[in-house]
Amino acid sequence: MTKPILPGEVAAAVVDPVAYGDWDPLHEQLTWARAHAPLAVAETAEVDPFWLVTRHADIMAISKDPQRFASGIRPTVLTNRDGEAIARAATPGGDGHLIRSLVQMDAPDHMKYRLLTQSWFMPKNLRIVEDRIRQIARETVDGLLESGGTCDFARDVAAHYPLRVIMDILGVPAEDEPRMLMLTQQLFGSTDPELNRSREAITSAEQAIAMLHYVIADFENYFRELTADRRANPREDIATVIANASVDGGPIPDRELAGYYMIIATAGHDTTSASTAGAIMELAKNPALFERFRSADSDKAGLIEEAIRWTTPVQHFMRSAREDVEIGGQQVRAGDWLMLNYVSANRDEAVFGDPFAFDPDRPKNQQIAFGFGAHVCLGQHLARMEMRIMLEELLPRIKKLELAGDPARVQSVFVGGLKRLPIRFEAA
Ligand code: HEM
Repeated sequence: MTKPILPGEVAAAVVDPVAYGDWDPLHEQLTWARAHAPLAVAETAEVDPFWLVTRHADIMAISKDPQRFASGIRPTVLTNRDGEAIARAATPGGDGHLIRSLVQMDAPDHMKYRLLTQSWFMPKNLRIVEDRIRQIARETVDGLLESGGTCDFARDVAAHYPLRVIMDILGVPAEDEPRMLMLTQQLFGSTDPELNRSREAITSAEQAIAMLHYVIADFENYFRELTADRRANPREDIATVIANASVDGGPIPDRELAGYYMIIATAGHDTTSASTAGAIMELAKNPALFERFRSADSDKAGLIEEAIRWTTPVQHFMRSAREDVEIGGQQVRAGDWLMLNYVSANRDEAVFGDPFAFDPDRPKNQQIAFGFGAHVCLGQHLARMEMRIMLEELLPRIKKLELAGDPARVQSVFVGGLKRLPIRFEAA
């Protein structure tokens, strides 16, 4: 069976950070792929060929089968050929993972590590932190209302609130949050010249890897000190759980320890910022929707789920086939690399009626923005809870909300979302 090859312009778009910064044309390409080549190989000049997986059903099937579709073999985030080679040369054992966290692990390590913190993120435990999150949301809203009638919601509000929540749960003191925010944006937004460390367009793999190395070294230094402190002075936070955990009868090795902190510290804020800002953008565009959800007794669950589908903050993850396997009518070979494109899956017309309409009343929203299966987002309940609390605290306190300029998206293939959302509002 020969492999279907994607048209060059579709392949070029899915690997181009700029395309994710302006995603209507990108959606056109993905819609075409879902209809005509839902599992087909993207061949581009700089990235090794990979299967672009665009349909919801195929992404579910691959995610449900971590035995055959591994996370630890090739990069879990799209990386160009030179970048992967440099990363392999720079990592222990040549595995190419600059960071080794839950998302890069397979069985048996993955579950051993995931279970160390999983119960922390379950709804039952999260009830314990609800009051604290509400306090952070209230302070954030106070700050917004004091700022007058306009602000950049993405930059001034959404970027800070989930960061404060996760830092609080993790145990990082408030004064270190600006540093964490900067490092995360540098880690995820490293291709966006407005956000990366050098504030310049990244033109070579060496440059990108060198920049990531600096960012990772900064994180590692910071968390090394935190670990030492929590081993000496345990507290009721996740840092204490990670610092004192044991795996296979000993403490977590240094590389995995840093990876664990980094995934918890970083996975939860740019993502939740993006979905929160996306919800606010849709309310600012639609006064009737805003009126409906302003009411204190309105159920926000549908709005939250739809905002998560609509924004799809994590735009892809990669998997690698461990063996030959037939999927979606195609023959994937051992060693092949696959991009699970969640942006596409969350607009799949086979699953969502009128997928390009923002509709908080979808009867059963099967959005797949949190992934699926063994690696399904550990923080999904926390993300929904943070969004609910922010909406509950913010909406009743404003009586008018509208856009005050053009929103702008981050130029990034991995974690996307709004980097600018100018709004005008009136306090109630
Ligand atoms: C709207 C917000 C969020 C989105 C869209 C999102 C999305 C995702 C996705 C797509 C995955 C990979 C799933 C897969 O491979 O099947 C993931 C994994 C993960 N997420 Fe989230 N996430 C969000 C918020 C959070 C928060 C608040 C945390 C808090 C710590 C978090 C922590 C994690 C962790 C630790 C993993 C790795 C799980 C594993 O590999 O076992 N995420 N997330």
